[in-house]
Amino acid sequence: MRTSIDPLRVARKFNTMSTADLQAAPVKASPFFEEKVLWVKHWTDRLFSFAITRPESFRFRSGEFVMIGLPGVDGAKPILRAYSVASPSWAEELEFFSIKVEDGPLTSKLQLIQEGDTVLLGKKPTGTLVLDALKGGKRLFLFGTGTGLAPWLAVARDPDAYSRFEQVYVCHGVREIAELAYRDFFTAGIHDDPLVGDEAKAQLHYYPTVTREPFERQGRFTDLIASGQLFRDLGLDGEKFNPDEDRIMLCGSMDFIKDMGALVETHGMVEGSNAEPGDYVLERAFVG
Ligand code: A2P
Repeated sequence: MRTSIDPLRVARKFNTMSTADLQAAPVKASPFFEEKVLWVKHWTDRLFSFAITRPESFRFRSGEFVMIGLPGVDGAKPILRAYSVASPSWAEELEFFSIKVEDGPLTSKLQLIQEGDTVLLGKKPTGTLVLDALKGGKRLFLFGTGTGLAPWLAVARDPDAYSRFEQVYVCHGVREIAELAYRDFFTAGIHDDPLVGDEAKAQLHYYPTVTREPFERQGRFTDLIASGQLFRDLGLDGEKFNPDEDRIMLCGSMDFIKDMGALVETHGMVEGSNAEPGDYVLERAFVG
C-alpha cells in the first residue's frame, strides 16, 4: 500500500500552521500518480520498454494513451510526454514502449530509470486507438511504425479484438531488424496468453517489414499497400481495403499517419472517432 503525505494533516498534528493558515491552504490534488518501476528492458540503443505499478483507481481502455513523466529535480516542474499504454485494460501492471532521444527532454532521462524508481502517471488516459472508435467489420489491420507498435500490444491482448473481428493483423514497420521489438511475443508468446492465447493462434497474424537492411520483407507500408504486395503476402482477395469489411488503426510518426491516412481514404475508408465510429483511426506516436 502506498502512503501519501497530506500537508494539512501534518500541519494539524504538529501544529505548524495557524488556524487562518489552515483555512487558507487548499489541498490541491496532484494530477499525477507516483508509481514504481517494476522492470526495464532495452531493445536497442534507440528503443526500450518498461512497466510500472498500476494504481487501483486507474481505468483505461485498451489502446489509449496517458501522460508519463519524471518528478522535477530541485523544485523544477516535471517533464511529461504522451505514451500509449502497451498493456490491455485489465492488466495489473502498466507497460510502455519508448524511444531514446539523446537530447530529448524526457527520454534522455527516462531511458536511465531502474526498478524501484518513481515515474509520474497522468490521471486521464484518452485516445482514439480504441475498438469503440471503429465500426464493426471482419478484418482489423493494426499498422504501427517504430514505437507506434505500443497500442497494438494492448489491442491484440484484448478479447474484444477477437470477438469483434474474424482476423487481426499486427503490422510493424521499422528501419532495422533489431527494432522489431516484441517479434517473439507476436509470433509465439501471445499464443500462451491465458485470456486470448487460443484466439490469437487462430485469428492473429504478424506482418513485420524492415526498410533499411535486408529482411524477409522490405519496404514501407505505403508502398506495400499501393503495389498490392501486402494483400498478396497476407493471402487476401483483392488489392485494396474494403470499407464494408476492413477496419484500420494507424500509429507512428506524423508523416506516416498522414500518408497512410491519405492512402486508405483513396480506398474509400472514412476516419472515425470516439463520438462517431468509422473505418479507420489514427494517432501520432510519441516523439522526443
Ligand atoms: P524509411 O526507413 O524508408 O524512412 P521512423 O523510425 O523514422 O519513425 O521510421 C519507422 C519506419 O517507418 C521506417 O521503416 C520508415 O521507413 C517508415 N516510414 C517513415 N515515414 C513513413 C511514411 N511517411 N510512410 C510510410 N512509412 C514511413
